[in-house]
Amino acid sequence: MRNLLSMEHLTNDDVMMIIERAAQFEAGELPALAKSYQVANLFFEPSTRTKTSFEMAERNIGCTVIPFDTDFSSMIKGETLYDTVKTLQMIGMDAVVIRAKEEEYYKELLTGIDVAIINGGDGTGQHPSQSLLDLYTIYKEFGSFEGLNVTIAGDITHSRVAKSNATALKRLGVNVRFLCPSEWSGEFEAHHSWDGLLEDSDVVMLLRVQHERHCADECFSKEGYHEQYGMTFEREARMKKNAIIMHPAPVNRDVEIASGLVECERSRIFEQVRNGVFVRMAILETILKGR
Ligand code: CP
Repeated sequence: MRNLLSMEHLTNDDVMMIIERAAQFEAGELPALAKSYQVANLFFEPSTRTKTSFEMAERNIGCTVIPFDTDFSSMIKGETLYDTVKTLQMIGMDAVVIRAKEEEYYKELLTGIDVAIINGGDGTGQHPSQSLLDLYTIYKEFGSFEGLNVTIAGDITHSRVAKSNATALKRLGVNVRFLCPSEWSGEFEAHHSWDGLLEDSDVVMLLRVQHERHCADECFSKEGYHEQYGMTFEREARMKKNAIIMHPAPVNRDVEIASGLVECERSRIFEQVRNGVFVRMAILETILKGR
């Protein structure tokens, strides 16, 4: 693996290799890199988890993290992303993690650039490191994927997490169902009510309502959304015994999920964040060793 751009580029074997390596890191195994690599994180959209988690993972495997402040980079003066990344390559960077609002921004970096590109989220496109940590979380819980029922509920049109996870989970033999208001289903066939979805779900994966990607004049009621599509106490009580709740976060409390359920027994929301560091260590080590 030379880059991580989209879950569509990974085989099931690639996914399982990352999961197994993440498990080894979680068990305390040390990284196997022969030297220290230079890495920069270029986040052109806001992030708490992905940026900090990558930085922690980079430090944990012995990389040097070179600060890069997108608000004070020469892209503000009109420099292209290609010229920026090429410049970082010539300075000595081995890998860059990039989050940008343009879908498939990475396509312009695939020719002429010899730095590993790790996609930290491309607009409404893909979020492969989030998907891999979600898969790791599910695998830790159930020990396999085949035959699981996963319901993905929320703002599917705007969700790169939904797209990445749908691709990967289906390929791994998971029965994936979508739930959302009819105008948010995007390319997927979706249910518009919880009827028949709750009682047999092994995983309910909630998605954030991405207000920043909605039209300003879009009529939205937080209470109405929560009532129809959110994880309420009544719905949580109807889930089967060992089923879990996930959410990539940040969470809109009392919108996608009742605030009092964010840390309930079946919630893995903060566990996902913890798992993300091990998975990102595995991603970075795999890519840097392969170069
Ligand atoms: N899940 C996720 O991508 O969170 P951040 O936007 O905080 O990185």
